[in-house]
Amino acid sequence: MKLRRWIVAGAVAVATVAALNVAPATAGRPYDPAAQSLRALAQRHGLYIGTAVDMDALADPADPRYRELAGSEFSTVTAENAMKWESLEPTRGTYNWGPADQLVDFARQHGQRVRGHVLVWHNQLPAWLTDGVADGSIDKAELRRILRDHITAVVRHFKGRIWQWDVVNEAVSDPWDTPSTLHYKGFWAENLGPGYIADAFRWARAADPKALLFYNDYNIEAFGSGNPADDKTQFVYEMARDLRARGVPIDGVGSQGHLGTQYGNYDTLQVAAALRRFAGLGLATAFTEVDVRSQLTAGVQAGDSAEINPRLQASAANFSTLLRACLAERHCLSFTLWGFTDRHSWVPDWFENPPEGLATAYDENYRPKRSYQEMKADLIFSGPPFVLPRVPQQPRR
Ligand code: XIL
Repeated sequence: MKLRRWIVAGAVAVATVAALNVAPATAGRPYDPAAQSLRALAQRHGLYIGTAVDMDALADPADPRYRELAGSEFSTVTAENAMKWESLEPTRGTYNWGPADQLVDFARQHGQRVRGHVLVWHNQLPAWLTDGVADGSIDKAELRRILRDHITAVVRHFKGRIWQWDVVNEAVSDPWDTPSTLHYKGFWAENLGPGYIADAFRWARAADPKALLFYNDYNIEAFGSGNPADDKTQFVYEMARDLRARGVPIDGVGSQGHLGTQYGNYDTLQVAAALRRFAGLGLATAFTEVDVRSQLTAGVQAGDSAEINPRLQASAANFSTLLRACLAERHCLSFTLWGFTDRHSWVPDWFENPPEGLATAYDENYRPKRSYQEMKADLIFSGPPFVLPRVPQQPRR
């Protein structure tokens, strides 16, 4: 009887370990979840953990750790710049696929999925395009054809190899823009009107019917007043709702997740509630560009731990807030970091006044920071009943 009970218990334990998709203890050594990679731990939740990849760093033989960690810690990758228009088509009609193809190959070698970033954005456009529009040599009708041809060429080139496409990026203004009432902003809205958004999704769907198509933006982690005139999340929610209602093929909303420790930010329940509302529209969600920057005060730069520690802790808390919210919502498919090491982060280059940095999960010498450990702990110490595996998503129609 006793023996039988033990056998049953053993069988249950083995079954549980199999169901959890964790490796059994190896010869004498107990299973240590903290020794697993982020990607291995996320797999138990069906969640993909990702990073933006800097192709120069990936190719640098003097910096092998970058390549190792990009391949071992993450299950999805995004080109930090290599799939942007200025990179892919620097000269009109001449495509430079090399670096982007290298990333797609790297992903295949490492069993990773690829987020395509980005088809339509007002930044990092080639000069031939913006100059042509400015000097009138490219008129509106031609501009629309150019956009259609670009989306078609790029999506076709990578057809079957991109899991999620950021089809339209950052189309909505911020409260600090002029006018302050939220509106569609930037090069494309100004030249083509907001109808380009629906067009872009339709063209992308036609070119690769199997890719999940996302709208991607920042400062949409949580709802505010609920008024679309000043609440960007509400504005994007209503945009997505209207696109869905009109049968436009949008499958998901990506929340970039660029946070800073100097701001108010949100708690996990607010962020989870926002993800749930987007899921209520029948949309997948993802965090697509997570980093948490801090101001590099004179004290931080001088190595004063009284100034550094609170920043590292606040950073870890913010990474954790976004990750836990994502874990809690079964339609949140992936959690991508915008770079994983302070050695290669866009933050110091882009936020100079005042200087900011310390935004990623590993320091400049590839030592994991508190942010990394907290994300790892979130992946380990979460599960049923409130954290359940992802619901696999298929393109809508
Ligand atoms: C940034 C890259 O990280 C930088 O290397 C580049 O110089 C500028 O763009 N939102 C986005 C990303 O959607 O594409 C941006 O990436 C960061 C903000």
